[in-house]
Amino acid sequence: MAYRSLVLGAFASTSLAASVVTPRDPVPPGFVAAPYYPAPHGGWVASWEEAYSKAEALVSQMTLAEKTNITSGIGIFMGNTGSAERLGFPRMCLQDSALGVSSADNVTAFPAGITTGATFDKKLIYARGVAIGEEHRGKGTNVYLGPSVGPLGRKPLGGRNWEGFGSDPVLQAKAAALTIKGVQEQGIIATIKHLIGNEQEMYRMYNPFQPGYSANIDDRTLHELYLWPFAESVHAGVGSAMTAYNAVNGSACSQHSYLINGILKDELGFQGFVMSDWLSHISGVDSALAGLDMNMPGDTNIPLFGFSNWHYELSRSVLNGSVPLDRLNDMVTRIVATWYKFGQDRDHPRPNFSSNTRDRDGLLYPAALFSPKGQVNWFVNVQADHYLIAREVAQDAITLLKNNGSFLPLTTSQSLHVFGTAAQVNPDGPNACMNRACNKGTLGMGWGSGVADYPYLDDPISAIRKRVPDVKFFNTDGFPWFHPTPSPDDVAIVFITSDAGENSFTVEGNNGDRNSAKLAAWHNGDELVRKTAEKYNNVIVVAQTVGPLDLESWIDNPRVKGVLFQHLPGQEAGESLANILFGDVSPSGHLPYSITKRANDFPDSIANLRGFAFGQVQDTYSEGLYIDYRWLNKEKIRPRFAFGHGLSYTNFSFDATIESVTPLSLVPPARAPKGSTPVYSTEIPPASEAYWPEGFNRIWRYLYSWLNKNDADNAYAVGIAGVKKYNYPAGYSTAQKPGPAAGGGEGGNPALWDIAFRVPVTVKNTGDTFSGRASVQAYVQYPEGIPYDTPVVQLRDFEKTRVLAPGEEETVTVELTRKDLSVWDTELQNWVVPGVGGKRYTVWIGEASDRLFTACYTDTGVCEGGRVPPV
Ligand code: NOJ
Repeated sequence: MAYRSLVLGAFASTSLAASVVTPRDPVPPGFVAAPYYPAPHGGWVASWEEAYSKAEALVSQMTLAEKTNITSGIGIFMGNTGSAERLGFPRMCLQDSALGVSSADNVTAFPAGITTGATFDKKLIYARGVAIGEEHRGKGTNVYLGPSVGPLGRKPLGGRNWEGFGSDPVLQAKAAALTIKGVQEQGIIATIKHLIGNEQEMYRMYNPFQPGYSANIDDRTLHELYLWPFAESVHAGVGSAMTAYNAVNGSACSQHSYLINGILKDELGFQGFVMSDWLSHISGVDSALAGLDMNMPGDTNIPLFGFSNWHYELSRSVLNGSVPLDRLNDMVTRIVATWYKFGQDRDHPRPNFSSNTRDRDGLLYPAALFSPKGQVNWFVNVQADHYLIAREVAQDAITLLKNNGSFLPLTTSQSLHVFGTAAQVNPDGPNACMNRACNKGTLGMGWGSGVADYPYLDDPISAIRKRVPDVKFFNTDGFPWFHPTPSPDDVAIVFITSDAGENSFTVEGNNGDRNSAKLAAWHNGDELVRKTAEKYNNVIVVAQTVGPLDLESWIDNPRVKGVLFQHLPGQEAGESLANILFGDVSPSGHLPYSITKRANDFPDSIANLRGFAFGQVQDTYSEGLYIDYRWLNKEKIRPRFAFGHGLSYTNFSFDATIESVTPLSLVPPARAPKGSTPVYSTEIPPASEAYWPEGFNRIWRYLYSWLNKNDADNAYAVGIAGVKKYNYPAGYSTAQKPGPAAGGGEGGNPALWDIAFRVPVTVKNTGDTFSGRASVQAYVQYPEGIPYDTPVVQLRDFEKTRVLAPGEEETVTVELTRKDLSVWDTELQNWVVPGVGGKRYTVWIGEASDRLFTACYTDTGVCEGGRVPPV
């Protein structure tokens, strides 16, 4: 069902004209995609045992064609995967987006991931996950295609950073894990995506003329940054994973045996199923051997011709012996076990909506030339009171960057002049642009597949007008040429935006990434701020933005009294903002990325998008571990606003203690051996299991897994004779491996989650006027003199207080696990605690990555306040 956004996306609509043509740069030396075979069987983790034994019982009754049928979508626009209805296994509905239910009526348009990350609030993140899960269930989907943690947010200009939670692996990891928990508790399978390195949109896709770009990532950087949120998601029990469009170290993610078999399934012990991103699947046998379990949406790279790399081709490949039946059985068992694991065999609702039309009746096979019609929409309202959660997230994400002279909050008795088209909903309607691929009016989300339809959009101007009798609204992005001189006390609120999205659409010259607008506010927003500040003494800037902006042309202007980032607030953009503007609530959002003074405060590899090259575009992670604040701290570059920054209307004090919990050894204790996995016959099945049923009426473009009798018989003859062998990749083997030392449970060796230290922090509201919520952030600084280069500080945990009245206090506890104190040792291929034996780690506690005034020492167990921050 999640196909609508792909209409324009299949052929990578990147503008070549805008790019600089450079000769092909080959994958640089040292970046390797090593072979890893075979695909590890699923089912060896105790918590999945029951689901796998039920799956084994069902799968052992399936014919070959039933098995191959459930491993693929039935074709773009057709909706869903194939089924094994004879045995009660339904077509599964896989639906976007990371922020709700996409392409559906009567749903909530939640704030985007980046907004959710900016709350730094675990309870709210989880509550949003529960609500999203409830809505998916109410609409009858099986699989939620979120959360997104790849991109991680390495490049400020990256198009889809806003779908994830911020430019830090731990923020992404904890937010993803809580979202997954919330969603999956509702019986919906969550999908962690996109594995991995999808840090820019342009040139991401393989097409007949060019491979997708290669993200070249070294082993340590992979483990300590980009894989970290995936590991935490697997640890949280995520049911499915989606591969990325691009390649990593020269090998396409959808057929990357090292990433899927080696990292995801063996090292991280992933027990669910792995799907391809839409139309990214470029081979048949190779991807199966590399560990792909589900081919979405079923078609080949170029859709709508009725061709598939799997379906009938997978049936043929099993009959002729190229794909071992053992591999097919594992794919199918993983899918069926995940379905059981989340209770979808028990009263799971069937889909009650169509992504293709809002009418009650529609085409039953939308991609077919001639299709019967029938009811496709039942208009089930799943919103319940989720607007309250959406509003709370939007509100608690609002990040106060500047508040000169405590100018904010405003009073409702003052005269307000509001500028900027973003204050008001798009006059054509909030859903006027397909997949929100335009930037008109209030910007509640980016564009592409990661969106939902607004049931309504509560815009800022309506909310402001509800409270303030004297409001003048200038619904323009250019400062009016004739404007009477305002009185010295008048306040101007200026709304500015910056948008981005998926490469399937180009908006105002931006091909998904912000390749045209860069870090400037759209529609000359910066000029609007400057011009307004020429006239008004008091200017408040409100930004609706996918990510960091270049604020330098006006941020130091003393007339710009306050700056608020709403991020992407979703449907609740109005009340949430008014609550902050007028002081009902103190702002408590914090930046999920740093805002630099200059774009090139970051190295070229981060600051700039990779442009066109003949052959494969190379995106080399030459900065290694040093992205966002890790880079700035290393280079001693002061950003304009650091990661984690966010002001309140009140002030807080922090008082911490540190307790040692579990003593650590250099590496985690030896892992337990894998448990048993389902056992099936490995004989090639009879060809008749793949014959077309007698008299079957085929629909063109619908993808089937049956073969003509002749084709099936011929393939079977080859397979049984064992003569014609597939040209297997280097390193191919069929002997299951015991698994690496770093593995042993979901997410890795279970000891990685042992709590090493606990840090209770007593937070006090030391102000005397406003209540507020404090963000407590814990950053670790590794011991001196260790043989590993480590970033100055790294976020490892965070908590948020409840609303504290002046003088009130609360104790929250942050924790550090073994993994939090480890580095990935590329020689040992394991997590190593470099400070073992009592070396001093410093755990810095504060409210931003550059506001760390309390230090706790792991060697002495002492915490000290009033320290000079390490950055
Ligand atoms: C492509 C996107 O990259 C992915 O995130 C999405 O889930 C699928 N399309 C399905 O729409």
